Amino acid sequence: MSQQESDREEAKPSTKLWGGRFEQKTDSAVERFTASIHFDRALARFDVRGSIAHARMLHHVGLIAADDERAIVEGLEQIGREIETGAFSFDPALEDIHMNIESRLRDVIGPDIAGRLHTGRSRNDQIATDLSMYLRETAAAAERGIYELRRALTSRAREHLDTVLPGYTHLQRAQPVRLAHHWLAFVEMLGRDAARFGDLRARITQCPLGAGAMAGSTLPLDREHTAAALGFSEPTANSMDSVASRDLALEFLSTAAICMVHLSRISEELVIWSSAEFGFIELSDAYSTGSSLMPQKKNPDVPEIVRGKTGRVIGNLVALLTVMKGLPLTYNRDMQEDKEPIFDSASTLCDALEVTTGAIATLQVNVDAMARAASDAMLLATDLAEALVRLGVPFREAHEAVGRTVAHCVKNDLDLRSLSTQDLRGFHPAFDAPAAELATLDAALEGRSTIGGTARNTVVAALEVAESDNTRRMDELNRQKTSDPTGADPR
Ligand code: ARG
Repeated sequence: MSQQESDREEAKPSTKLWGGRFEQKTDSAVERFTASIHFDRALARFDVRGSIAHARMLHHVGLIAADDERAIVEGLEQIGREIETGAFSFDPALEDIHMNIESRLRDVIGPDIAGRLHTGRSRNDQIATDLSMYLRETAAAAERGIYELRRALTSRAREHLDTVLPGYTHLQRAQPVRLAHHWLAFVEMLGRDAARFGDLRARITQCPLGAGAMAGSTLPLDREHTAAALGFSEPTANSMDSVASRDLALEFLSTAAICMVHLSRISEELVIWSSAEFGFIELSDAYSTGSSLMPQKKNPDVPEIVRGKTGRVIGNLVALLTVMKGLPLTYNRDMQEDKEPIFDSASTLCDALEVTTGAIATLQVNVDAMARAASDAMLLATDLAEALVRLGVPFREAHEAVGRTVAHCVKNDLDLRSLSTQDLRGFHPAFDAPAAELATLDAALEGRSTIGGTARNTVVAALEVAESDNTRRMDELNRQKTSDPTGADPR
């Protein structure tokens, strides 16, 4: 045997599936550096499903015999079970999930039949297909988590229709609101987040499998057959786009980042509100931790960590945008860097939704502390100005007069409500009643009966709309789950 031949012999690790072109073994550092199996194993379920659909299609168009199809499908089903039970052993030398599964199929059914599976496909269209299926399922899981949180918020809102606190702008007391109204604001934001995940799912309708490495195939593949088997409505239209694009992943990451920002803002309020300075809420013991040094401490770690993890989820979006921005068509190996950000954002968001739901559901509201803060007469200054407007005074003029009234109260340490009609006339002649009549907490809340305002009936109506909207959307998601032809389980 010549030196060359013996090199070749040695360089032919039975595990590698790219065969004849290579004469040397991959350097072990390169193997470690390029392998993705330690994270893309999360796609195993989808990869097996995609391979089964592909094998069935190959037989359907006459590219493989019925016996081979049966052997391949049964082999893949066995591998699916091995992965599920943890019996499967993942080999980093086999680089990624696609080659790990195909190599195992060779062990299970023999290389001759197993070697027919990769007909007319490439890992490039495989990974795009796996990801589309993963994103479809994970977006549904995120939606479900959002609906649970909205349900917790609306249920706490119903308890606190008559709990009043200051609404803030610039974290300065602005105008009084009902706690229900305050929490319903987050219900609206989260409703749009869920709708964004729904939009994404509705956009994942095209199946990349069959696009091959990037140009399609000379073989008579039936891409519609594969697409239908995997629950897509059609094949992707352009083979190059099929393997080159990650905008669906970016859309997922961006929706996750926006939703995390909303959770972070909820968290920020939980942190502030549970401080001694506010004392508006107490988080339950199950959602707080103590200090190892200071025995008196009860720390809001759960909302703090949600707020902290938001940084990573935003980073994940920026990471993939940055990976993609300079890539020429079509597939480039850089794109393997899409997976860790996606998996991390998915699990971080779902976990954050779950703990935020629990924290909201179990926190205690200090109704008195909120009421004390809301009894600040300055919260009614706008109402005094609007009283003048009702008497025909232009708003800018009213605003200026009440501004001077407020300054007078601040300087002399007076309660705005203590001013008589006479006192008020010193600031504007149109005033026709004492401040205590023109500006009351009740009128401030009840007077704002415009759509989206703080009046009790308005808030009750908004709450009812939010509750039934949430139930309808949850039901719809559950219905879609049972009608998914692939049996995909959006958790
Ligand atoms: N593991 C790769 C990825 O995650 C997919 C395989 C494509 N690799 C390749 N060398 N063409 O993107």
